[in-house]
Amino acid sequence: MRQCVLSVLLWVGPALVLGADPATVEFESLPGPRMEGGRPLMEVLRDRKSTRELSADPVSREQLANLLWAGFGVNRPQTGQRTAPCTMNLRSIDIYVVTAEGAYRYDAEAHRLVVVSRQDVRTLTGGQDYVKVAPVALLYVADHARLATKVEQPAEQSFYAAVDAGLIGENVYLCCASEGLGCVIHMPGDRTALSQALGLRPDQQVVLAHSVGHSAK
Ligand SMILES: Cc1cc2nc3c(=O)[nH]c(=O)nc-3n(C[C@H](O)[C@H](O)[C@H](O)COP(=O)(O)O)c2cc1C
Repeated sequence: MRQCVLSVLLWVGPALVLGADPATVEFESLPGPRMEGGRPLMEVLRDRKSTRELSADPVSREQLANLLWAGFGVNRPQTGQRTAPCTMNLRSIDIYVVTAEGAYRYDAEAHRLVVVSRQDVRTLTGGQDYVKVAPVALLYVADHARLATKVEQPAEQSFYAAVDAGLIGENVYLCCASEGLGCVIHMPGDRTALSQALGLRPDQQVVLAHSVGHSAK
């Protein structure tokens, strides 16, 4: 009996972490990220910029996979450590992906997408016109429960969350420059509506949004 309870707990564990009914958790696979090549770093730094004139042309699945891995993917599988540094190795930021097809959480360990919504909530991601056009919005979402394991003060948690999100954002900027994509990091729109749409817990906060697409110029 004890073994049976344990097996059930092991089976539902990951889904409970997501706060969802295990029967309804859906995943989407991503192509493996490109970990070699790309444009030389100094050229990419030369070209990095914010682009607010974005077209509706789709971002390919390969490009999305590269952006997510560059942003906060696992680059040391032995330890699970990431492409961006993070406060006390708490990995407090999750990247959410918002497209016309739905909203997803990037599961960095498995390099796949966890479906959180089948609605197009891109207009909630910011207050400027480009959010209506950009095919992809990335959201940098802080998990204060993770931060609270080592950082007591809420103000300090928010400080570290903002720093961690900024570091991920710069990785995404550089990957966009390498991929020939345009992007702009920005404040999220209505945080309450966004949190509801993504099914976030009260101790999760959308720190920054990052609209990505092809330059319209
Ligand atoms: C924390 C942060 C918040 C930002 N918020 C916005 C924003 O709400 N809207 C926007 O259009 N750009 C926003 N930006 C982009 C900056 O305006 C942009 O990086 C700056 O003008 C410099 O331009 P560059 O990125 O092309 O060098 C933000 C950038 C950062 C780092």
